[in-house]
Amino acid sequence: MGAGLSTRFHRIGKNADRWLDLDLPVVTELRSQLDTQTQQHQFVSASVMDFDWMDTLTDVAPENILFIAEGLLAYFEVNEVQQLISAMRSRFPGATLDVEILGNYTKISNKNFTKIGAPLKWFVKDEQDLTAMGLQVVNVGSLYQLYPERWPWQWQILLKFLTQFSYFRNGYLIVETKL
Ligand SMILES: C[S@@+](CC[C@H](N)C(=O)[O-])C[C@H]1O[C@@H](n2cnc3c(N)ncnc32)[C@H](O)[C@@H]1O
Repeated sequence: MGAGLSTRFHRIGKNADRWLDLDLPVVTELRSQLDTQTQQHQFVSASVMDFDWMDTLTDVAPENILFIAEGLLAYFEVNEVQQLISAMRSRFPGATLDVEILGNYTKISNKNFTKIGAPLKWFVKDEQDLTAMGLQVVNVGSLYQLYPERWPWQWQILLKFLTQFSYFRNGYLIVETKL
């Protein structure tokens, strides 16, 4: 959802029965110039907020679906996120939804997002905000704590210290949920 030009299918999706990359028409057109659709890997031109896209998934059992919303939900108002989650819960109960959510700490970078016409609108306190929306939180990790080996050692020390503080830890959360 809001797949952008993500190459995740080519990296890890080859074993999926079907992989849909959904984004707005302008982005899907660009993707079509760079990549080729197949029966297995399809591009869906739609806004996630026009819920008709959910009809493309009527022939799949919800428990066999993994939705990924990375770098997407923070661009919507909280009531829009709630509407989307409620619609997905009623259509796909039991499906997995993995989301990236941003905490108040991230507000400091919003000036830059606003300058390029993509202001961030939804900031969470922590993963409990997802529970309050009806999602079941299965797993949660701070981006700053996941894969520490990917950071230079000086950063590893700094991040270990800073993520003791919830304000910083909740800046970027990757959360696995059940609808
Ligand atoms: C920051 S990018 C993230 C791209 C990709 N998920 C990633 O992590 O690399 C946000 C994406 O969300 C898409 N997007 C924004 N509003 C959307 C909407 N209403 N429906 C579908 N996609 C949307 C944008 O076009 C953009 O490709």
